[in-house]
Amino acid sequence: MENKQKMIVPKQDDNYTHNIHRDNERKLDRRGFMKTMAGAVGVFAVASLPWGTLAARELLGLAPKQEDNLLKIADIAQIGIGEAVNFTYPSKHDPALLVRIGKDEYRAYQNSCPHLKCPVFWNKEQQELLCPCHHGKFSVITGDPIAGPPKRALPEIKLKIEGGAIYATGVKPYEI
Ligand code: FES
Repeated sequence: MENKQKMIVPKQDDNYTHNIHRDNERKLDRRGFMKTMAGAVGVFAVASLPWGTLAARELLGLAPKQEDNLLKIADIAQIGIGEAVNFTYPSKHDPALLVRIGKDEYRAYQNSCPHLKCPVFWNKEQQELLCPCHHGKFSVITGDPIAGPPKRALPEIKLKIEGGAIYATGVKPYEI
């Protein structure tokens, strides 16, 4: 009997549990949950704001169109027939290649190999687009793979000639 009395903590000395009524404890749980949810919704809203803005610009037609994304690649006089020029398009992180395949005929492709992203080169002697990593080859006329492991074509860049210079105007979408 004496032992049992010793184990009971007098209420005035215990401010941590006995001052919360069971019903209040439930309210606190619900309130805590709601606060957590409100916080999560707030964080999600702030985090998705940049993407929402981009999507809205795209939907409202305010985003820059690819045709507006004009880049001068070179003066035509600087490129001999059968020669190539390296450039980057549409961003500085997208390497690309322009090949003059005839007097008035040009092709340009983004030159990251679709296989494992090695840079594709213009082999002037063989007149072919070559990926040296696994001997992938691409048609300079279409950008389609013609040898090696690549299965997809090089993305083609649209071109425009004006005032003796050649410009990139956009990247052609993949045809499915
Ligand atoms: S990375 Fe080009 S063929 Fe493999």
